[in-house]
Amino acid sequence: MNSKKKGYETLMQAVDNNTGGLFFLDAPGGTGKTFVISLILATIRSRCDIALALASSGIAATLLNGGRIAHSALKLPLNLNTIDTPTCNISRSSAMGKLLMQCKLIVWNECSMAHKKSLEALNFTLKDLRRNNNIFGSLMILLAGDFRQTLPVIPCGTAADELNACLKASPLWNNVKTLSLTTNMRVQLQNVLHNFPNNC
Ligand SMILES: *[C@@H]1O[C@H](CO)[C@@H](O)[C@H](O)[C@H]1NC(C)=O
Ligand SMILES: *[C@@H]1O[C@H](CO)[C@@H](O)[C@H](O)[C@H]1NC(C)=O
Repeated sequence: MNSKKKGYETLMQAVDNNTGGLFFLDAPGGTGKTFVISLILATIRSRCDIALALASSGIAATLLNGGRIAHSALKLPLNLNTIDTPTCNISRSSAMGKLLMQCKLIVWNECSMAHKKSLEALNFTLKDLRRNNNIFGSLMILLAGDFRQTLPVIPCGTAADELNACLKASPLWNNVKTLSLTTNMRVQLQNVLHNFPNNC
């Protein structure tokens, strides 16, 4: 089995188990990361469940169906790095609040460009919204990206600041389960994608 097919199956199994958790799809360019994510989003949405697609930049957001920029979608504060414990400004009664309470999966693409505090704010907010004390309120979070490429940019920061802001510097990272995509063969999965019923 190639690594993409295995990655897809492992992740869908985690979605179906409904136990949440933090996953990282370690995918250098050209390994079909966007393809695997699209397939997972399509599978969940074909069942009329909700999956939220976020990305650290607008360009990466447009690659995903319904993708949105994480910072604005999650209503994160602009001065993340100066706040000790930032939270998302999302109430339970807002549209986004309802979506976060109901959704089955959040995908965060280009996560290597995200500030660790944005993920920590999401953890805090999901626990609160979902009234669930497990990590991310038992919602499954799928991070995807390539730490070999891009680190978050801290205005006026030194290289040490950049590393400290990186997701890998967060205690949340201790909970991550990593899946690696290494091959670039998309044929088998392409058939699956084209055969989705869409009754929603
Ligand atoms: C949170 O959002 C509300 C609008 O929904 C706004 O009035 C308020 O100023 C925001 N709070 C912060 C801290 O940004
Ligand atoms: C996740 O959020 C909770 C607050 O709801 C906090 O107590 C906990 O330390 C956070 N976990 C991490 C690893 O930041």
